[in-house]
Amino acid sequence: MIKENISLKGYNTFGIDATAQYFSTFNSVEQLAGLLESKKLITHNPSLITFILGEGSNILFTKNVEGLVLKNEIKGIEKIGEDENYVYVKAGAGESWHQLVLFCINNNLAGIENLSLIPGNVGASPMQNIGAYGVELKDVFYTLEAFYLAEKKMIQFTLQDCEFGYRESVFKRKFKDQFVITSVTYRLFKTPRFNTSYGAIEQELQSMGIQTLSIKAISQAVINIRSSKLPDPAIIGNAGSFFKNPEIDAEQFKELKIPFSGIVGYTLDNGRVKLAAGWLIEQCGWKGYRKGDAGCHAKQALVLVNYGNATGDEILNLSEEIIESVQKKFSVPLEMEVNII
Ligand code: FAD
Ligand code: EPU
Repeated sequence: MIKENISLKGYNTFGIDATAQYFSTFNSVEQLAGLLESKKLITHNPSLITFILGEGSNILFTKNVEGLVLKNEIKGIEKIGEDENYVYVKAGAGESWHQLVLFCINNNLAGIENLSLIPGNVGASPMQNIGAYGVELKDVFYTLEAFYLAEKKMIQFTLQDCEFGYRESVFKRKFKDQFVITSVTYRLFKTPRFNTSYGAIEQELQSMGIQTLSIKAISQAVINIRSSKLPDPAIIGNAGSFFKNPEIDAEQFKELKIPFSGIVGYTLDNGRVKLAAGWLIEQCGWKGYRKGDAGCHAKQALVLVNYGNATGDEILNLSEEIIESVQKKFSVPLEMEVNII
């Protein structure tokens, strides 16, 4: 059923009070197709947009949505095949990402334990090739199925088709708003390849007193680290990192190191250097800053927060001031990671 004038405050982790002109959920491809037909009948306006909503953990609403918001609730997680080294798991796009992680851990399937506790659903996981603690979605991605809105048909995408990059995919750019991802199939390892080299994982495993490494232990270590620095959206509105970590060339990094010896960056395989945007933002004095209800998180400067009643524009304005100051101090452009609506 399509409802009218629904508040989206409870449907985005920033807690922004925007309104959807029309709103519905769907739990199957057939229901999705039916709703798109009804949209034509109800709205009489083909130019109204269709916006696909997951759990709203990577969006910032700066205006009301003139059109139909469709919340994906396609469920189901199942093992669909295996070979010598891998097990293939297919999940409905409306499944919670962390539930999928738990399913894999409980079934001793390795590969996504480092991605524990990332908010959002399965359908959004390929959108920006979610990543954390040295692992990205692309490392376990096999295929996905998506409904092509223009031709009303299902299309399968392989790893190559998705053109995954750092917080990037074809769905975020080239095919933006053209496909509704309905299921994703992941290829998990039967034998784990433990990845503990990133950040504070080793240290956390030690303080947990772990003697024998397991995917469950790594998952718990990641959960502990994340919980210690990232704000819980149920308490303070946020969408995780607001900006991407910027890449610069090695020459610029060398030059920046002269006045800013503490600058945090690491060299990529292509010779370029990825900088910690959180450090740059902190150095510009923003960490812990608050203006009205919009702020920069006190424990992680890369995360912008809504203390209650900030508007999307207030958060966006703050982000623009941050971009400007980082550009001025370091000559480094910051790019937003969050989808601005
Ligand atoms: P939404 O925010 O609902 O949607 C995001 C975008 O994808 C929108 O443009 C939407 O239209 C589109 N979309 C969603 N579902 C579909 C679909 N089925 N088909 C087509 N388009 C779709 N991200 C990381 O990568 N790593 C992290 O470590 C991380 N940590 C986070 C920590 C916190 C506290 C928070 C709040 C967020 C964090 N994020 C992180 C960001 C976020 O969790 C991910 O981007 C997540 O995948 C978003 O999922 P979602 O279902 O909430 O998507
Ligand atoms: N730092 C500071 N000050 C800060 C924050 C960070 O100096 O306020 C420096 C520290 O030196 C720290 C380094 O930045 O060691 C890296 O910080 P952290 O480990 O917290 O990770 P990040 O680079 O800020 C990225 C991702 C996160 C992901 C973590 C762990 C991006 C944009 N963000 O954050 O993803 O969870 O690494 O892998 O790549 C997200 O995308 O929403 C997200 C939370």
